[in-house]
Amino acid sequence: MTPSGETVADRAAPGPDVLRDKVAVVTGAAGGLGRAISRRLHAAGARLALVDLDEASLADAAAEFGEQAATFVVDLSDDEQTEALPGRVRAQLGGLDVLVNNAGVRQIAPILDLTPKEWRHTLDVDLTAPFVLSRAAIPGMIEQGRGKIVNIASITGELAFADRSAYCVAKAGIIMLTKTITLEFAARGIWCNAIGPGVVETPMTRAYFESPAMRESIERNAPMKRWAQPEEIAGPVAFLCGPESDYVNGTTLFVDGGWNSAKTY
Ligand SMILES: NC(=O)c1ccc[n+]([C@@H]2O[C@H](COP(=O)([O-])OP(=O)(O)OC[C@H]3O[C@@H](n4cnc5c(N)ncnc54)[C@H](O)[C@@H]3O)[C@@H](O)[C@H]2O)c1
Repeated sequence: MTPSGETVADRAAPGPDVLRDKVAVVTGAAGGLGRAISRRLHAAGARLALVDLDEASLADAAAEFGEQAATFVVDLSDDEQTEALPGRVRAQLGGLDVLVNNAGVRQIAPILDLTPKEWRHTLDVDLTAPFVLSRAAIPGMIEQGRGKIVNIASITGELAFADRSAYCVAKAGIIMLTKTITLEFAARGIWCNAIGPGVVETPMTRAYFESPAMRESIERNAPMKRWAQPEEIAGPVAFLCGPESDYVNGTTLFVDGGWNSAKTY
């Protein structure tokens, strides 16, 4: 028996529109991964609440979805704006079924050059905002009977990389936040899982690909000898948002071409 009362055996096999009429919030929706995730969830039938700080890029990202998407310009480093978001989404779209905590920033700097202010900003956007958003979204999800949260972590949450201390700590934190949310809410119809991408070609990483050292590192360390395209991450995210993952909870699915399994870099 599931928390909403149905038996698993009674359920029909999920079709291609498994998220029909569900409302999915995607943060960082104007970015590389956010756009791919939004497209994939839209293809599965979801109505979208697209969230970003960058108003112009957000409007551009939303344009392809017409009335199936609403935009919310929010600075996720601001607790008040972040906490208010789930209520605004419910008021405008009539529900909130799926929350994808995707927005992120990454500072590349050795520890001695990283200021406490920069450290805090990375943790605010990459770790505290998913906590604040989840905390504000969960009570309504419980009331609705079910809700799915997918956090975008990273292999850097499992493997330490030099010059990325705040980012690695934030991503390690979100892997643990994923587990603690599951522990507290799984019996009340909440799923919280994470995706741990390896290197993905997006605006965040574009500069990498211009550096021969990074190309060489990926060829040396990534078992598949290549980086990913955003669409290759969006499919696994959609799996964790839909009903086919209903016995998957508290886990981080690494979508990294085997890099984390090899444990080298
Ligand atoms: N690209 C990769 O190789 C890679 C690998 C592992 C994990 N990730 C994670 O994937 C997620 C998406 O990254 P991406 O590669 O698409 O990067 P991106 O830079 O293309 O997109 C990030 C988005 O987050 C938004 N954002 C940043 N700060 C914000 C704030 N304060 N409030 C609201 N929105 C804000 C940005 O405006 C941007 O649109 C991030 O969490 C990132 O850490 C990326």
